[in-house]
Amino acid sequence: MEYIVVKGGKKLHGEVTTSGAKNAALPILFASLLAEGVHRFNNVPVLRDIASTERLLQHLNCTTQRDGGSLIIQTNPPDDYTAPYDLVSQMRASILCLGPLLSKYGQARVSLPGGCAIGSRPINLHIDPLRQMGAEIHIEKGYVIANCKRKLTAAHILFENTTVGGTENIMMAATLAEGTTVLENAAQEPEIVDLAIYLKSMGAKIDGEGSKVITITGVDKLTPSEHTIVPDRIEAGTLLIAGAITGGDVKVEKCVPAHIQSLIEKMRESGFTIDSGDDWVSVSGGNMGHGVDIHTIPHPGFPTDLQAQFMALMTQCEGASVITEGIFENRFMHVQELIRLGAEISLNARVAVVRGEKGKLEGAQVMATDLRASASLVLAGLVANGETQINRVYHLDRGYEKLEEKLASLGATIKRCA
Ligand code: EPU
Repeated sequence: MEYIVVKGGKKLHGEVTTSGAKNAALPILFASLLAEGVHRFNNVPVLRDIASTERLLQHLNCTTQRDGGSLIIQTNPPDDYTAPYDLVSQMRASILCLGPLLSKYGQARVSLPGGCAIGSRPINLHIDPLRQMGAEIHIEKGYVIANCKRKLTAAHILFENTTVGGTENIMMAATLAEGTTVLENAAQEPEIVDLAIYLKSMGAKIDGEGSKVITITGVDKLTPSEHTIVPDRIEAGTLLIAGAITGGDVKVEKCVPAHIQSLIEKMRESGFTIDSGDDWVSVSGGNMGHGVDIHTIPHPGFPTDLQAQFMALMTQCEGASVITEGIFENRFMHVQELIRLGAEISLNARVAVVRGEKGKLEGAQVMATDLRASASLVLAGLVANGETQINRVYHLDRGYEKLEEKLASLGATIKRCA
């Protein structure tokens, strides 16, 4: 099994480019099911989750073809409307084919995703709104079986919790429904906006994306289109933290600083020097910050997907930092691993308290437990004394394109071993 070895102590310097966003690409690739024909997607990162999505789309009778950074998808009517267990269990986001299949073809059979390392992750907020739109849905032998006799019908949906995937699934389903659907308490993430841009380029009628109320008026037909995936804000944030944690000077290019405003503000509050322009953000000066508190909440609040990486940074900042996880009930698997490296962290339910001290971490073997936890261990490895070996690195490959290469290009001593 592959692992990563990082030798700590190098200050990172230079420019690095952000890839396309995994969490924007996944729903968008599934949205292509809404229009038969040839779609072209640019800036699609090469990741394990994208490969899983391609496999599922191929199972649904689509063909996919890489052309450099682009992915061309030819969608065709499926022979079988099933997302099978072996594909869904590899990637929970596979549930995002439910809305498009049901809306376009009136039927879908999608394996229940089940829980994962970061929480129980139910899908009630995907299913209940589809029922409100007229779908008949039941669970049978581990599968969500969904049917609608004719078209889905518009509904007024109030999400009781903010859900990114739920908002995406229902937004996609509503594009071909009869009438005007209103989504209240919708997620406001940049990935929702990117999905809306693509759906609109296919002829969908959508208003309010990026706000808490989204209105979608169904149309009879969508037509295939071309779309460029938005830059990955979580990768950009991770690279910025990599610069900061090493006391380096790093400019992260081809990103959207507004999408990581909450991180930038917290890093400035901590004492780091952060500059930004239209499509870049940088950390410089080499000074280490002091402990600050974060509380993860839906966008535009501090993202849960940067919590683990920020915690790694806080282990180097003098003073206490209180880190509250407000989205997932179990997203602290990295804490024990950071403690293995010598970090002082106490954990009580959804609150972790980090007592930072510059230079305190010592290299050790650690185990990646999920995607963002893996990234936090790599970041910690960049400053730990000696070598840190990060096992189960396949988690990292789900969502970071060439992370070791990017960090090595900034001067890190990092290599992948088999
Ligand atoms: N929730 C429910 N019922 C539902 C759906 C969600 O109770 O039907 C709860 C979840 O259990 C969670 C909260 O609502 O407590 C938010 O979950 P959400 O639906 O927003 O998450 P998601 O759509 O499953 C996406 C990202 C995650 C990211 C979260 C939160 C994708 C493919 N995944 O997940 O990304 O953490 O939004 O921002 O977009 C990652 O990239 O590492 C990752 C986990």
